[in-house]
Amino acid sequence: MKLLTNIGRLYTGTGSGEDGVLTGAALAVDDGRIVWVGDDAAGPPRAVSERVTAIDDCGGGLVTPGLIDAHCHPVYAGERMAEIARRTAGASYGDIAAMGGGIGATVAATRATGAEELRLGLESRLRAWLAGGATTVEAKTGYHLERNGELAAVALLHRAGRDPMLPRLETTFLAAHALPPEMRGSPDDYIAEASSWSAAAAEAGARFCDVFCDEGYFSVEQSHRVLAAGAVAGLRARVHADELAHSGGSLLAAELGAASADHLLWADEADAQALATAGVVATLSPGTALSIGRLPPARVLLDAGVTLALGTDHNPGTCGMTSMSMVVALAVAAFGLSVDEALAAATAGGARSLCVPDRGAVAVGKTADLVRWDAEHEGTFAWSYGLTPLRVYRGGEDVTPLAAQPAVTE
Ligand code: NIG
Ligand code: FE
Repeated sequence: MKLLTNIGRLYTGTGSGEDGVLTGAALAVDDGRIVWVGDDAAGPPRAVSERVTAIDDCGGGLVTPGLIDAHCHPVYAGERMAEIARRTAGASYGDIAAMGGGIGATVAATRATGAEELRLGLESRLRAWLAGGATTVEAKTGYHLERNGELAAVALLHRAGRDPMLPRLETTFLAAHALPPEMRGSPDDYIAEASSWSAAAAEAGARFCDVFCDEGYFSVEQSHRVLAAGAVAGLRARVHADELAHSGGSLLAAELGAASADHLLWADEADAQALATAGVVATLSPGTALSIGRLPPARVLLDAGVTLALGTDHNPGTCGMTSMSMVVALAVAAFGLSVDEALAAATAGGARSLCVPDRGAVAVGKTADLVRWDAEHEGTFAWSYGLTPLRVYRGGEDVTPLAAQPAVTE
C-alpha cells in the first residue's frame, strides 16, 4: 500500500469551489484504488497505516485526479502544416478539403504507412499526454476509412491503452469520419459498409461509435444510420456535432441519447436544452475552436444544465495539442469558464463523457489516477498556460514522463 502525504490542496472533484478541495490532506492507494482519504496530520487509521510500504511526500503542493482528454484523433501519419498555414491566411476548412487537403490527405498518408510505424508514432505521441497530466484519453480511429485499417486502428488503440506506462485509452470507432476517395459520390454505400463493421469494431475493443455529422461530411440521416448500427453492436454514440455549420448534430445526439456531443461551435440555446434534457455531455475543444475561429456557447450549455467535458482534439488538421493542463487554461481564457468549472470538465465531466465512473474524482473506491502539480493552488492552471506535473500516477503507479521529472542534483 502507498501513502501520499503532505498534500497542501487536494482537488477532489467531488464538489464545487472549496467544497471540492481538502487542505492538509493525505490518501492511501492499494491495488490501483484509493482506499483512504483524510487529514494528513491525523494520518490514516491503524488498519491502513500498518499496511503502508511506501510513502510519497507531496511537498505541500496541489494534487488533482488525473485529467481526462475526452476527444482526440491520435492514429495517423504525415502532417498538414502547409494547409494549416493557408487557413491562417483565410482559406476555410471546407476550402482546404475541396483542394485535396483535409482529412483525405491524412487518409492517403496513413494508408501508406505500415502497422509498426503507426504503432510507434501512436505510442510516442501518447507519452506526451502524460506530460500534460492526462491519465485517460478518448481516442478515435478514422484515418483509414476502409475495413481492415479501421479495425486495425481499433485494435492498436485497445492494446496501447493497456500499456501500464501510457495513459488509459477509451477507444472510439470513427469510420464515418469522411468519405473515402474511392467512394466519392456514394456516401450512402459507404455508410452501409462502415455500419457493417461495427460488431467487429466492438470485438476489437471499441466502446464508442462516432460520426462527423456536418456540412460537407455526413448528413443527420446518414449519421443516424451509422450510430444506430453501432448501438446494435453495443457501441455508445458520440457525435462530431455542429462544428462547421448548424447542421443538426446536437439534436441527433440528444435524440439517440449519445454519451457526448462534441465541438458544438454552432450550437444554440435549443440545442443546449435538448442536450440537457437527454443527459448528453458536451465535449468542447478550445484548441480547435480557436483554430477554426469560432467559440462554442459554453455558458449557454452550462446554464441549461449540460455537463461539460474537455478534449485536446489532437488531430493532424486543426490542433496538435496534447496538454490537458493547457486545455484547462484555454477553456478559462477562451470559453470564460472559472478554473473550478474548467477543472470539473477535465475530470468529473470527462469521466461522464467517457462513461468511466471509476475516474475523474478523488474518493475511496476510485481508481488512483492522480497528478501532483508544480503548484500550490489550482488557480495556477489559468496562469501558467501549460502547468506541468511533478508526478503522474496511473493506478497509484508512478508513470511520470522523464521530461517532467526534476533533474537529480548531487
Ligand atoms: O475534430 N471534425 C473532424 N475531425 C477533426 C479534424 C480532423 C482533421 O482535420 O484531420 C476535428 O476537428
Ligand atoms: Fe474531432
